[in-house]
Amino acid sequence: MAESLYVDLNQDRASIYSSLYPQMKALIEGETHPVANMANFCAVLKSVFDWHWIGFYTVLGDELVLGPFQGPIACTRLYKGKGVCAAAWESKSAVLVDDVEAFPGHVACSSFTQSELVIPLFDGACEVWAVLDLDSTELAGFDDLDRVELEKMLQLIPAP
Ligand code: SME
Repeated sequence: MAESLYVDLNQDRASIYSSLYPQMKALIEGETHPVANMANFCAVLKSVFDWHWIGFYTVLGDELVLGPFQGPIACTRLYKGKGVCAAAWESKSAVLVDDVEAFPGHVACSSFTQSELVIPLFDGACEVWAVLDLDSTELAGFDDLDRVELEKMLQLIPAP
């Protein structure tokens, strides 16, 4: 398993993602436990992008339960029909929110969060088993490049 990351942060974001992908692959390869992989996934993104909050919620029945994360303490449970994470879970697609104030029902775990990107993870039956939630302290802190690259990277994590 790789112990260090080598990423030139002076590159453009597309190049950063390109150099990160094989390193994330090497880190996850050979490990099947979702908690271990989600934990390292968050640690890598935090060290490279330093977003405000980076973490996973996993599906448990009708709820989402807090999983591995990097950043301030967060809501432990999220419920269907309310918030960005639930929207991504229920719609089975990524949700990009440029301004959380403009998203009805947004769940404010941190008052510093201004924008958010949530991406679902799918199992073999195409059901959502977790979501990755990214929070930024800036408006429009994420864009389609982040969505596309992270959707690709998340496929490295084997479903439970
Ligand atoms: N804002 C999320 C809740 C999770 S926290 O941001 C960590 C939502 O609306 O679902």
